[in-house]
Amino acid sequence: MRVTGFWRRWSWGYVDAIETLAGTDGAKSLFMNSMSDKTNVVDDPLVCVRDLHFTRGSKPIFRGLDFDVPRGQVTTILGPSGTGKTTLLKMIGGQLKPLRGTVSVDGQDVARLSRRDLYALRKRMGMLFQSGALLTDLSVFENVAFPLREHTSLPESLISHLVLMRLHAVGLRGARDLYPAELSGGMARRAALARALVFDPMMIMYDEPFTGQDPISMGVLLTLIRTVNQALGLTSLMVSHDLAEALSISDYVVIISEGVVVETGTPDELKNSESAWTRQFLSGSPDGPVPFQLSAPDYAEELLSGDRR
Ligand SMILES: Nc1ncnc2c1ncn2[C@@H]1O[C@H](COP(=O)(O)OP(=O)(O)OP(=O)(O)O)[C@@H](O)[C@H]1O
Ligand SMILES: [Mg+2]
Repeated sequence: MRVTGFWRRWSWGYVDAIETLAGTDGAKSLFMNSMSDKTNVVDDPLVCVRDLHFTRGSKPIFRGLDFDVPRGQVTTILGPSGTGKTTLLKMIGGQLKPLRGTVSVDGQDVARLSRRDLYALRKRMGMLFQSGALLTDLSVFENVAFPLREHTSLPESLISHLVLMRLHAVGLRGARDLYPAELSGGMARRAALARALVFDPMMIMYDEPFTGQDPISMGVLLTLIRTVNQALGLTSLMVSHDLAEALSISDYVVIISEGVVVETGTPDELKNSESAWTRQFLSGSPDGPVPFQLSAPDYAEELLSGDRR
């Protein structure tokens, strides 16, 4: 059954449908209608984060995060560096457990799953790490085939078909025999994306997918993330510092800072936000509610005191 569904989905998937992004507006308005006006909650979310608390040592990372990730959309999590975005993706993937609160994916409380159920859930969640994390001793083809070889007993002919379809989808069929050291940064990301899609996941998480990319690679990745989401009916959750680019392909945005959700909404809603903090963050202003100067004694007094510590 699994193979049949897998195969059927792929046969309509990339080969024909990848060129089209049809229906985006309709999907957006449906999504907008499903939003509750006062909270961060959406109808039928794929991921629900509730009252999430987490610390690293004595440092609080999350102090009661609440938000949903809507199904079928591209959602971006924004926030200053070190605010816990990668940590959050790890909690959704069950690599870290909350101190308090819950993270549920497709109705399952991730932290309470047995090891077996967690592994089964992880197969349905593709993850593109900040580093790309390709296996350096394996060719591009073998990197993409690796999860299939490790976790299934599919025949070689089917593995080959599935890998080639994914490589074709990301434009790397011609690079199947290259090794990671022979790839550009953009190609490595695309290979990692092909691998992340190999189990036909319901959801894919991207951690800083654009870092260090030239404008052309960036454009390729942006188009891929959006098209893959649409063509395969995925839910995409992305963390990125590249604001303009990330917002250009996002349906929904969650801004976090200092352990809480600052604001959620569509990119347009956030651009017109009444929150000075959100506006400063989105415009990248050096000064605003987040001050340029760290808290310090009065400048004139300090100069006059001659204190040279
Ligand atoms: N393994 C770890 N041990 C201890 N502290 C950690 C560990 N990993 C991350 N941290 C701390 O947790 C906080 C959140 O880290 P995280 O990597 O999630 O931030 P981020 O928002 O993804 O940052 P960036 O935008 O720079 O990638 C940081 O203060 C970091 O120093
Ligand atoms: Mg990070």
